[in-house]
Amino acid sequence: MNAVTEASTPHRPVLYQETIEYLAPKSSGRYIDCTAGAGGHSSGILEVSSPNGQLLAIDLDPTAVGLTRERLLPYGKRAIVVHDSYLNAARILQQLGWDLVDGILMDLGVSSMQLDQEERGFSFRHEAPLDMRFDPTSGPTAADLVNKLSEKDLADVIWRYGEERFSRRIAQKIVSNRPFQTTSQLADVVRSAVGHSSGRIDPATRTFQAIRIAVNDELKTVEQAIPSLIELLKPGGRFAVISFHSLEDRLIKQAFKRESRDCVCPPEQPICTCGHKASVKILTPRPISPSLEEIEANPRARSAKLRVVEKK
Ligand SMILES: C[S@@+](CC[C@H](N)C(=O)[O-])C[C@H]1O[C@@H](n2cnc3c(N)ncnc32)[C@H](O)[C@@H]1O
Repeated sequence: MNAVTEASTPHRPVLYQETIEYLAPKSSGRYIDCTAGAGGHSSGILEVSSPNGQLLAIDLDPTAVGLTRERLLPYGKRAIVVHDSYLNAARILQQLGWDLVDGILMDLGVSSMQLDQEERGFSFRHEAPLDMRFDPTSGPTAADLVNKLSEKDLADVIWRYGEERFSRRIAQKIVSNRPFQTTSQLADVVRSAVGHSSGRIDPATRTFQAIRIAVNDELKTVEQAIPSLIELLKPGGRFAVISFHSLEDRLIKQAFKRESRDCVCPPEQPICTCGHKASVKILTPRPISPSLEEIEANPRARSAKLRVVEKK
């Protein structure tokens, strides 16, 4: 068991300054951190919105919830930390008796703590059970997926979510070597299917990313959540999303674009029949990337992109 404490494996909040500047937390404000992690961004929001700003911090991972609770203790009742999915933010707000909020943050992907916590099975660098669930208390594990999906479905997952050109070969090799119990077993089979290492990146990287995304249904969850989270914002409230790979960024860009349009009918349609009304204004026509200094200090930040919209 590899217990995680904030002191032993800190998660550095990515694009911290930029995010706080865009959210511009104020003392009269209420905020939601949809993906609390170790509470880095959460504590920043509470600090800047002192003395009265309030924050609802949500995370699917019970370990992250524990860390964030501890970290936000100094803020007393201004901080509420909940173990749940951000998909349920509207219901949580209702339970709290909160109306609309002034800002929402989503910092997607896996945290450094999750990668370092061996028994979670996110990393091919450690020997561990194939799990990869953000919430290890519910849902199918990576082992369930890898051992049960058809060869075609596995290849599709690896191709779609890993953008892995050897997806078919990998899926074939996985199916003929089942069942899998551990990360190392899977990593070895993927490496042997790819057959070479293209430099610094481990050949298992893309497949592990793909399986993690599928286990947690990450892209569908984000896509489903964005429009409903926008509805929770006050006029002038801001929604900031940090993503870590092109698939997520593309999805967020498209979702924000759609919500910023008055009509979403197909372009070939001469008259609007959708009745869609723009609900946001895009504040970042191009995504914000980390500075070279940040990337140097925290290489994990290198692929991060921040997009922000403001509610109309
Ligand atoms: C990159 S970390 C966030 C780090 C955080 N901003 C910080 O400063 O420490 C992403 C977090 O999102 C959580 N997460 C992923 N999907 C989620 C969901 N649907 N609902 C709530 N939390 C989720 C993960 O468990 C993980 O802790």
